[in-house]
Amino acid sequence: MSSRTVIRGGLVITASDEIHADVLIEDGRIAALAASGTSAAESFTADRTIDATGKYVIPGGVDAHTHMELPFGGTFASDTFETGTRAAAWGGTTTIVDFAVQSVGHSLREGLDAWHAKAEGNCAIDYGFHMIVSDVNQETLKEMDLLVGEGVTSFKQFMAYPGVFYSDDGQILRAMQRSAENGGLIMMHAENGIAIDVLVEQALARGETDPRYHGEVRKALLEAEATHRAIKLAQVAGAPLYVVHVSAMEAVAELARARDEGLNVFGETCPQYLFLSTDNLAEPDFEGSKYVCSTPLRPKEHQAKLWQGLRTNDLQVVSTDHCPFCFVGQKELGRGDFSKIPNGLPGVENRMDLLHQGVVDGHISRRRWIEIACATPARMFGMYPKKGTIAPGADADVVIYDPHAEQIVSAETHHMNVDYSAYEGKRLTGRVETVLSRGELVITEREYTGHAGHGTYTPRSTCQYLN
Ligand code: URP
Ligand code: ZN
Ligand code: ZN
Ligand code: ZN
Repeated sequence: MSSRTVIRGGLVITASDEIHADVLIEDGRIAALAASGTSAAESFTADRTIDATGKYVIPGGVDAHTHMELPFGGTFASDTFETGTRAAAWGGTTTIVDFAVQSVGHSLREGLDAWHAKAEGNCAIDYGFHMIVSDVNQETLKEMDLLVGEGVTSFKQFMAYPGVFYSDDGQILRAMQRSAENGGLIMMHAENGIAIDVLVEQALARGETDPRYHGEVRKALLEAEATHRAIKLAQVAGAPLYVVHVSAMEAVAELARARDEGLNVFGETCPQYLFLSTDNLAEPDFEGSKYVCSTPLRPKEHQAKLWQGLRTNDLQVVSTDHCPFCFVGQKELGRGDFSKIPNGLPGVENRMDLLHQGVVDGHISRRRWIEIACATPARMFGMYPKKGTIAPGADADVVIYDPHAEQIVSAETHHMNVDYSAYEGKRLTGRVETVLSRGELVITEREYTGHAGHGTYTPRSTCQYLN
């Protein structure tokens, strides 16, 4: 049976346009748009009408970097695919791309199958996978080709975390050469983990055990150095490169230089780097542990450079790197030794709102908000225009956004399965009101009306953002 919904009277914002238009949805897809009040719009008939007068009508957010249930630091990220995707929907995100993990000594296939099993039947919104490659060898390289064919078209490697996810330069180069052939995109965690481990050991030997030392040993220069090295390795391999969770302005400068040379080098930052700083890491009574992630938060002066990078397109995407660990029982594993604090911050629910605050504060335009949060992540990871825009034929993943509503962020009211908010008490202007995923109401005027299992696996094509 065909179902039709019309969203009337809102300001439709995409990466390229802002128009007052009515949006017709049929069978889970955008069927048509027409300027509000015109006879074309009036001819839209539907079973259900949503009044969006005074509101924004925007594409559902695409969060290209999440870690539901990630085993890390001796524990597991506290959001499951069920709780994490529900929270994402509350925050106006309708697609996530999570990281399946290859453990050392195991195949990519085993890792990917395990992540499919965790996600299938549990998600409130659509999802895809990247693959973390921890063990580059001849078999893994062959498997990369197969995964690209299955819609897993991006592979994360780590220059950090020796003994866990770490790859050396030779392994990185081999994977990049392979991706140059098979169309995959290498996503790099760019920090010099070998050098950082020396600094960690020396800091602990001096008795520097508090969370703030996490920020001191993971130096901006070591992020910049690794970023530079990754760029050069990609250049040698003739492969594109996407650097994840960029936090240091020195790393942005490396990306900008490479892009000025015309290289297919891309950068992602995260809301935590735009809104939080080393001041948070220095909070007393072990509160700083709530802000331990890698790359680490930086001194405040880096924030302006990250916003600038977003404006100049030296950074293209904002994802959350959502990797929540509860303060009680999880972050606390690192009391007396900052290197044992599980790395990661919650944020999948907050991204669209925080970036809208970037619009309110004058850092970015409304269209740039949609570009960095919806359209470009969809293009970068091969899901456009199915995801990331409002256009005929696209999935009807749509958010009705109230730009004037005021909210105060709090763990008391959020929906992520974690006992604190990194943005506790922060006042924001703008709030998600209603969310549709493939035409189905997931959030209806701030009530959850979705269900686990609605979200389906989204196989992806190769990167659609290359020069
Ligand atoms: O601290 C972080 N970022 N935790 C998640 C794992 C990663 O490196 O992305
Ligand atoms: Zn990382
Ligand atoms: Zn991550
Ligand atoms: Zn459903």
